[in-house]
Amino acid sequence: MNADWRVRPATRADADVLASLEKAAFGAASWGAENVKDGLTAPYVSGLLAFDESDKAAGFALWRTLGREAEILTIGASPSYRKRGVAAALLAALLEDAAAQGCAAMFLEVDSGNAAARALYEKFGFETVGERRAYYRNGADALVLRRYL
Ligand SMILES: CC(C)(COP(=O)(O)OP(=O)(O)OC[C@H]1O[C@@H](n2cnc3c(N)ncnc32)[C@H](O)[C@@H]1OP(=O)(O)O)[C@@H](O)C(=O)NCCC(=O)NCCS
Repeated sequence: MNADWRVRPATRADADVLASLEKAAFGAASWGAENVKDGLTAPYVSGLLAFDESDKAAGFALWRTLGREAEILTIGASPSYRKRGVAAALLAALLEDAAAQGCAAMFLEVDSGNAAARALYEKFGFETVGERRAYYRNGADALVLRRYL
């Protein structure tokens, strides 16, 4: 069942929360806390956090603008909050923010074997526009997805 998630921008003050959510979501494939913090404060990058009704942080996203295009850098939900609409709430919010900033399209890379993420993006109308062989550290291929805004 989907709950109501409160989604708000992440600020520098949220760096530790965001890093721990990212670690919980990605495990061995985590960027690591320092990279997450650098990402949050990098130029043109925006962060989002999702909170449950008790104000516990449940999910996060980082995305950036590249002129009229935008790109999702990372998105995830804590394992204990999966399949309850956290990522959908974050994705809807960042697509809306990017459109409001005048972006024409959102891009992302996804592990071709990540069925959950691929289903999420398909539900939001993303289409495959490219492939990057052996893109990830573990040798997995990435698909490049795009959604017009
Ligand atoms: C992928 C991920 C972000 C989904 O987060 P979530 O909050 O559980 O997703 P939601 O509950 O918002 O699901 C939205 C849609 O995504 C799809 N989806 C999500 N999890 C799925 C799963 N395990 N299997 C199949 N489809 C799934 C469904 O289409 C779902 O819609 P539905 O509930 O109407 O069926 C989450 O599994 C995660 O954090 N994974 C690890 C990090 C990761 O892979 N991030 C993406 C990198 S590109």
